[in-house]
Amino acid sequence: MKLLVCGGAGFIGSTFTRQRLLEHGDEVVVLDKLTYAGREDNFHEIRDTPGFSFIHGAIEDSAAVAGAITGCEAIVNFAAETHVDRSIAEPDAFVTTNGKGTYTLLEAARKHGLRYLQVSTDEVYGSIEKGSFTELSPLAPSSPYSATKTGADLLVQSYFHTFGLEAVICRGSNNYGPYQYPEKLIPLMILNALAGDSLPIYGDGQQVRNWIFVEDFSRAIGHVLEHGTPGEVYNAGGPDECPNLEVVERIIELTGRDSSLMEYVTDRPGHDRRYSLSSDKVRALGWEPSVRFAQGLEQTVTWYRENGWWWEPVRSGDYREYYERQYGKSLR
Ligand code: NAD
Ligand code: DAU
Repeated sequence: MKLLVCGGAGFIGSTFTRQRLLEHGDEVVVLDKLTYAGREDNFHEIRDTPGFSFIHGAIEDSAAVAGAITGCEAIVNFAAETHVDRSIAEPDAFVTTNGKGTYTLLEAARKHGLRYLQVSTDEVYGSIEKGSFTELSPLAPSSPYSATKTGADLLVQSYFHTFGLEAVICRGSNNYGPYQYPEKLIPLMILNALAGDSLPIYGDGQQVRNWIFVEDFSRAIGHVLEHGTPGEVYNAGGPDECPNLEVVERIIELTGRDSSLMEYVTDRPGHDRRYSLSSDKVRALGWEPSVRFAQGLEQTVTWYRENGWWWEPVRSGDYREYYERQYGKSLR
């Protein structure tokens, strides 16, 4: 298969690109704007792999999309603004990329008659106190990030219903693993702990997330692309749930630090309390997650310890300014 992978220079998109090239022998054209979250360094293992190519461009730019799409059989769209805190501080880019960008890709898929997979999130369902969300749960997003992702999902479904576009949606729970930008909870806490910086816990730290190892989620996306029914949504959640406080405590243990680094800070506005996904529908297609949280977290800490070349340029660049704006203090 020849795939157009949008947002393939980011955390999950680069994992997916690696898997499709090395495990499936697909051809992959990556189209990516290279925002702060996208890096060509994420391709260091596949740069010279036959079948891989990279195009620098934005998904909301129809000319860039037209230039990248030639010969592709399907579009897999990872490209998005993805961080909830940034969507609260500066929502503008979220509307452009997640909204107009998705629309631009759908139009291109329609014109060329391509299969389309939208990578989406459990955050479209909002927060759940008990039990798990299914694909039939109502959509109730809380943040500008999740609202724009929900809008994009609805647009994707409208292209199936109205134009018969062969579109599927795969909604994931919280991903973690190598190559994740350190604005997200797990890499932020690992790098702060390694450096001896304080560990900022929002509110009471009892919010629960349903953690999935990035390679498991990437495989779920490939599975839905190959076996999903057009017009359908598939949830792919991780095998374990964990309150934030426990995640931080485990990271402290794995990095050999102590709890004096923990610091309770002002809560995120509109903070969702708990996410939990039922993945029965995608499991019925033959996918299941293979990495438990304890094992994946240990592997992730080891990866960050051993790959300073990847995160040192991030932690010493613009990220420091972002960190000061978001947390009101400097990194060491
Ligand atoms: P990321 O922030 O690591 O990467 C996003 C990528 O998109 C970057 O390479 C960036 O350069 C690119 N991009 C941003 N705007 C673009 C534009 N206008 N045009 C082209 N490229 C653009 O994100 P991620 O964590 O890998 O998430 C990928 C997708 O998975 C997103 O759609 C996200 O909503 C979804 N998702 C993420 C998680 C998670 O826990 N990280 C969970 C479920 C779903
Ligand atoms: O659920 C899937 C979603 O997971 C994806 O769609 C999003 O793209 C991704 O960013 C992630 O959203 P969250 O808001 O759940 O992830 P984040 O890593 O920002 O936060 C995880 C939890 O940790 C959340 O309850 C907020 C808390 N947190 C986060 C940070 C960055 C802290 O307590 N302190 C922090 O410094």
